[in-house]
Amino acid sequence: MRIGMLTGGGDCPGLNAVIRAVVRKGEGEYGHTIVGYRHGWRGVLEAQSVDLSENSVRGLLPRGGTILGTSRTNPYKTNDGAQKVMSTLKRDRIDALIVIGGEDTLGVAQRLGSDGVRVVGVPKTIDNDLSATDFTFGFHTAVQIATDAIDRLHTTAESHDRVMVVEVMGRHAGWIATYSGLAGGADIILIPEEPFDIEEICDRLTHRHQRGANFSIAVAAEGAVPKEGTMELQTGEIDEFGHVRLGGIGARLADEIERRTGFEARVTALGHVLRGGTPTAYDRVIATRFGVEAIDAVHEGEFGVMVALHGTNVVRVPIEDGVAQLKTVDGRLFETAAVFFG
Ligand code: F6P
Repeated sequence: MRIGMLTGGGDCPGLNAVIRAVVRKGEGEYGHTIVGYRHGWRGVLEAQSVDLSENSVRGLLPRGGTILGTSRTNPYKTNDGAQKVMSTLKRDRIDALIVIGGEDTLGVAQRLGSDGVRVVGVPKTIDNDLSATDFTFGFHTAVQIATDAIDRLHTTAESHDRVMVVEVMGRHAGWIATYSGLAGGADIILIPEEPFDIEEICDRLTHRHQRGANFSIAVAAEGAVPKEGTMELQTGEIDEFGHVRLGGIGARLADEIERRTGFEARVTALGHVLRGGTPTAYDRVIATRFGVEAIDAVHEGEFGVMVALHGTNVVRVPIEDGVAQLKTVDGRLFETAAVFFG
């Protein structure tokens, strides 16, 4: 078979480990030809591809980012986009496509699947917000980077008697904030799933300082939202999939906390640092297992599926289950984190 592969949407650590696994088993064991499309769906639209071989994936396991490049391109945004995709695949004699992406990229794959394209999806995002899989690779690396940063911010917060606000990515879900806040011993965690009241936050910080603490750490997910009418937030630009660009809540919070409590506050927005660099061992293993499962599914002729992690097993689920709805932080987990607030 000639098998196409692409990485779409925000990059994350572990993408190259999937690419390596697909090529090592797909070409190495099954003898298929693997064709990589550059820059996500854009490469398919513009027929930009590169043949992948065992040599081109050597040394990729620890490497962050994606050697194929990526973009936030939605072929269904343009009239004949889907048609263009199908003609490229036909012209390149592609028998099946392995699509590595988050909800947007896999959403396109699902639509193309129902238009007859043979697709297998691999879930990736640092946000961990894809349904039908317990975890996506990239998430654990982002959590580790955020936790290391929170550990460091403890010492400077303590030295200066300050409140440190740490803003983390995660789009409309609070997985990164909740996990890194819990692992880093944060005193406050703000997530989209639990709208917050800035007055309550400031009361909590004041009580904490009255009980003898001279510093505090507050972790805020970029998508955290204040309760109606309690605090204004600016909104950002919209991307090709209709997503608002997030970011900036950390600075707003630090200003409000300083103004209302009198405690000196500073903000650290970790931003794209959370997506950069080498994947953790856990993410390398998950990504590799996902890659192997994806090429096995193609080889066995099973399409319209997404590989997923259920407990410790890698399984195949209908791709629509992965993109049906956003996976948000469950109340039980947040309750556990709240035990340690203030
Ligand atoms: O989906 C991954 C993610 O990093 C989100 O956490 C964040 O909101 C968004 O992508 C940032 O997108 P971009 O890299 O296009 O600014």
